[in-house]
This record gives sequence, C-alpha cells and structure tokens, in this order.
Amino acid sequence: MRISLISKLTIGTSLILLVFMVFFAYINIATFKTTLMEAAISDADKLSETIIKSTHYEMLEDNRKRAYAMIQEVGTLEGVQYIRMINKSGTITFSTDKDEIGRYLDKTEAGCNVCHTSGEPKVQASTMNRSRIFFDKAGKQVVGMAKAIYNEKSCYTSACHFHPPKQRILGVIDIIVSLENMHTMIGTYRNKIIFLTIFLLLSISLAITIFTHHLVNRPVKQLLTQTKRIAQGDLDAQVKDVTNDEMGELTDAFNKMTASLKNARMELEEWAKNLEAKVAERTSEIKQMQMQLIRSEKLVSLGRLVAGITHEINNPLTGILMFANLTKESPHLDPSLKTDMDVIINEAQRCAKIVRGLLDFSRESIPQKKQVSLNSIMEATLTLIGRQSSFHNVDIIRDYQPDLPLVLVDENQLEQVFINMLLNASQSMFSGGSITIRTYAEDEYACIRITDTGAGISEENMGKIFDPFFTTKTDKGMGLGLSVSYGIIERHGGKIEVRSKLAEGTTFTIKVPLNPQGKEALAASSTVS
Ligand SMILES: Nc1ncnc2c1ncn2[C@@H]1O[C@H](COP(=O)(O)OP(=O)(O)OP(=O)(O)O)[C@@H](O)[C@H]1O
Ligand SMILES: [Mg+2]
Repeated sequence: MRISLISKLTIGTSLILLVFMVFFAYINIATFKTTLMEAAISDADKLSETIIKSTHYEMLEDNRKRAYAMIQEVGTLEGVQYIRMINKSGTITFSTDKDEIGRYLDKTEAGCNVCHTSGEPKVQASTMNRSRIFFDKAGKQVVGMAKAIYNEKSCYTSACHFHPPKQRILGVIDIIVSLENMHTMIGTYRNKIIFLTIFLLLSISLAITIFTHHLVNRPVKQLLTQTKRIAQGDLDAQVKDVTNDEMGELTDAFNKMTASLKNARMELEEWAKNLEAKVAERTSEIKQMQMQLIRSEKLVSLGRLVAGITHEINNPLTGILMFANLTKESPHLDPSLKTDMDVIINEAQRCAKIVRGLLDFSRESIPQKKQVSLNSIMEATLTLIGRQSSFHNVDIIRDYQPDLPLVLVDENQLEQVFINMLLNASQSMFSGGSITIRTYAEDEYACIRITDTGAGISEENMGKIFDPFFTTKTDKGMGLGLSVSYGIIERHGGKIEVRSKLAEGTTFTIKVPLNPQGKEALAASSTVS
C-alpha cells in the first residue's frame, strides 16, 4: 500500500502529539484532583476549627444545648454529611445524626486510629493525616476530619465544670463532608481537558498538514510532475514558485539541470544535423588526399620518364642549336635559306625551353636554399609581373601575417611557382576580378593561399591539372606551369592543395615546412594566444 509523504508526516506527528497531550492531560487532571482534595480537607479542617472556636464560650458556660444547636446549624451547610462530638472515653456525646448519639467508638475505628496508633494519642497530627476518605452508606465518597479539643487554661479554671489541668485532650470533633461536589468539578474539568486535547490535536494536525502541503508536498509534487515530463522527453517546462529555502534551492538546481539537458539535446540534434555535412566534407577531404596521393605517384613515375627523355634530348638539341647557329653565320650559306635557318633555330630554342621546364619538373635542378619570408618572395613576384596586361582588371588583396616565420627555400624557384599561380589566376578571370593572397603559419608549415574569382576548374579536370602538358588554354598554354610548380614544392618537402568551384573561383594553397626555429616560434605564439 502506498502512503503519501504528507500522510506519513501527519500521522507521525499526530501520534507523537497524542502521546504527549494525553500524558499532559493526565498529569493536569491528577494535579487538579489532588488540589481539590487538599482544598476539601482544608475546608473540613477549618470548619471543625470554626465549630470549636464558636462553641468554646457555650462549653465554658456548660451550655451544651446551645452549643449542640450551633453544631446542628453548621451541619445543615451544603456538603456537610454530619458532625459529631466524641468524649475522651470514646462515646459520641452529640451528632447531627441522632441515631449515633451514645454510641461507643473503639480506638481502632477509622478516624480514631490516626492519633491512637500506639495507645497514647498523638497531640499533634497533620491535617492530611487526620483526614480519611471513605464511602458512606449511600455509596458516595466522603472525607472525614477528626480534630482534637484541647484542654486550655480557661477550661480547667472554669467555675462551672472542672477538667484536671493534666488532661490534655477533652474530646474530638469529627466532621464528615461529601466529596460529591468535588467529583462533579473534576468530571467537568476532565471533559473540558479531553475536549481541548482533541481540539488542539485536530488543529495542530490540520496546521501541520497545511504547512507540509504548502512547503513540502506541493514543490515535491511539482518536481515529480516535471521529472515525469523529462522522462517523456519534454524539456521545455520549468518549475515555477521557487521558494527561498532548501526546497527552493532544489527546485532551482532542478530547473538548471533541465535547462542543461535541453541545451545538451539541442547540441546533439544540431550535431546530428551537421553530421551529414561533416561526413560529406570529410569525404571530399579524403578524396582530395587520395587524388593527391595518386597524382604524386603518377608524377613520380612520369618524372623519372621525363628525366630520362630530356637528358637524352638535351645533348642532341644543344648540338642542333649550336650547328644551326654556325650554319646561319656561315658565308657559304645561300641567303635565301637564312629565314629557314631562323625557323630551325627558333623551334630548337622552343624545344630547349620545354626541356628546361621538363627538367625543373623532373627534379633535375637542385634548389639553392636560404632563409627567407614567403611574404617578401610574393611581394617581389608581384613587382615583377603585376604590371602585365593580364593584371589590369584584377584587384590584388594582400592579407599577410606580419610575423610569418622564415623558411629555408630557393627564392627563385618559389618565385617561379608564384608566377605560375598568379598567371593562372589572372588568366582564369577573363573580365577582371580579384586575387586574395593570404599568408599564415599552421601545423608546422608556412602557408600562402592564392584565391581568385575566376572560372574555376571542373571536377573532371581536377585530377589532371598537375600533369605535364595538360592545358585548357588553346593559344598560349603549354601545360607545364602547375607540373613544374608541383615538382619545386615537392622538392622543398611541401605540398600544394587546391579547391575550386566552377564559375566561383579557385584557391591554391602552397605549404612549405617550417625550420626548427620557425616551429618554436609558432608553438610559442599559439601558447600565448
Ligand atoms: N587558377 C586557375 N583557374 C582555373 N583554371 C586553372 C587555374 N590554374 C590552372 N588551371 C587549369 O589547369 C591547367 C594547367 O595549368 P598549367 O599552369 O599547368 O598550364 P597552363 O597554364 O595551361 O600553361 P602554362 O602554365 O604552361 O603556360 C590550365 O590550363 C587550366 O585549365
Ligand atoms: Mg600556367
């Protein structure tokens, strides 16, 4: 069986309260009863004292009739059952109950035995000891109070009758008072106390229930409802009415936890959404790397082939050029053949230029390296070719990293690479555009990124642009620029990356490895930032 928290608290506190209040009520009634009893005994004692005092004179006068009449009168008071006088020998000399007069009382009888315990009467006994509580013939509870009448000087000097001075006690006055009234009062008081206890118990239980409901049950219920909503996936609702106590702190923490859960879920959803895009991006990166690998392998074998051929061609070509020049200068040559000789020399020179390009590509020429900044090489390149007609409608935007670490490179070869890149970029922008040049250091490389707003490269051509003699330029392109650039950068231990979108533009990124000092500088700057 499930008992709610509030019921448990109410039942628990009510039970504890009940125990304490019943105990308190019991003590209260018992104390009240004792007080009333003492008051009744004291009243009876005072009454007997009053009787003794008021009949004193009549007794001295030996006017017993008047004395007895007075006692009779007092006996009619409310609650007084009867009053009797007992003489020294134990005979009842007078009683408001006529039937008793003349009866002899034994010392062991109730009321007598208080003082006559050891034969001789005690002269002084306490009020409580002199009282006795018993039930009368009608079965009602009464209190009896016996009081000794002492032999005073006035008594034994009186003329009328004589008591010897040695006799200390002349007799006893015994008053029996009903306790009925006291019992009625106790009953009324007990009923009041029981009613008050029940009323207080109910009121306190109700107050505890209301307080607990307001302070504990309601916030706990709200938290429970919220927890169930979270379990069902609803993270929007927040618990309101945050109180300024521990419950409030708990609610606040709960609200914060819900908010963080919501954020985490949103991030997760966002992440799931982006996952597809990220996978696509990663796939294209992997594709690019794969292409680069294939290209690299292809170019290595192609390089070896080209190196062999150009080596073989270079010697005979030098011979052809040398002898063609000698023949052209010879006086025996028919002047009509001079223009033909010029054609031979020009074509042979074109062949020699191709061979030089091929040699560059096939790693034949060894780089002359020195410490230099990519920024300054690019600036020198721009000064060299920036005034060419193909750059007239082109905006050059520089975005250099000023403290770019120096790199160990062949300045001329790098210049040649930049010329190739810039020319390709300008040639792709038929009606003008912009070339953005950005330099930066990243991942142990000094990088230069050349972005144009030109025609872009098709997916199909992307795999071929680094091949020697691949060109889309029908008129002046030889298709050697990128293959030579690739050879140079590879020889420097670097790499060339390319991204392009048709009709939007192309970005070539050339990465040259940093030397140890450059790496240290890069590490230091990244730690600072
Ligand atoms: N920035 C660019 N924008 C568009 N296409 C480009 C770009 N750079 C290179 N290409 C493409 O790559 C091909 C090969 O370029 P590469 O520089 O090797 O040869 P080329 O420019 O055609 O001739 P060469 O450089 O020998 O005069 C180009 O014909 C062109 O189709
Ligand atoms: Mg080119």
